Amino acid sequence: MGTETASRDNSLILIKQGAEARVFESSFVGKRSVIKERFSKKYRHPTLDSKLTLKRLNAEARCTTKARRLGVCTPVLYAVDPVLHTLTFEFVEGPSVKDVLLEFGSCGINEERMGKIASQIGDVIAKLHDGGLVHGDLTTSNMLLKSDTDQLVLIDFGLSFTSTLPEDKAVDLYVLERALISMHSSCGNVIDKILAAYRKSSKQWSSTLNKLADVRQRGRKRTMVG
Ligand SMILES: Nc1ncnc2c1ncn2[C@@H]1O[C@H](COP(=O)(O)OP(=O)(O)OP(=O)(O)O)[C@@H](O)[C@H]1O
Ligand SMILES: [Mg+2]
Repeated sequence: MGTETASRDNSLILIKQGAEARVFESSFVGKRSVIKERFSKKYRHPTLDSKLTLKRLNAEARCTTKARRLGVCTPVLYAVDPVLHTLTFEFVEGPSVKDVLLEFGSCGINEERMGKIASQIGDVIAKLHDGGLVHGDLTTSNMLLKSDTDQLVLIDFGLSFTSTLPEDKAVDLYVLERALISMHSSCGNVIDKILAAYRKSSKQWSSTLNKLADVRQRGRKRTMVG
């Protein structure tokens, strides 16, 4: 595949060109779908590059499927192509949490909707973590809200891994906290609402939130030194 093919083929529409992957809208046996293509990094040795790309591709496929098994809503994985380095997913209709929170920033917060979104985020992360899965890239762009139901759908498991360590889970939450502070400061205490829901849903909340306090402290020290 590639952008040239994409522009020639009307059935592929580029949604996002990232540093490691391109995301296209397409159709899969008549269903609206998304194709995520991991491409090679020219500066890496070709054999190593190919191995790493395949490893990330397989990890994303495995972790998306595992998350679904844990009861987390993710797009259905339709196909894996290890030769083209692509994953084909169900297309989720609806905005990202990022877009919705940015709209709250500019149009005023709808407290009720915000509360529901925050509690879904906390629940979903608790399910992942209790099942031994760490997302690795919890940002508001990696959470979509289904248009018809406002159900939260988690995407982008490209950096996910299995772990039962409270430290790994705490770092996962810390990444989200930093993303919310830098991107959605006008949304107030959304992270507190997320953590309150996490605490309610996760059986192992106590060890994770204790670690989160340590991780925050290390983060603050690093900021002071830098
Ligand atoms: N299943 C889907 N349905 C609808 N839109 C999607 C879907 N998957 C991805 N997108 C859109 O494409 C964007 C990029 O997808 P994704 O987050 O998976 O890639 P990425 O951030 O470039 O990946 P990576 O961080 O692994 O390099 C998302 O933010 C979202 O807007
Ligand atoms: Mg992403």
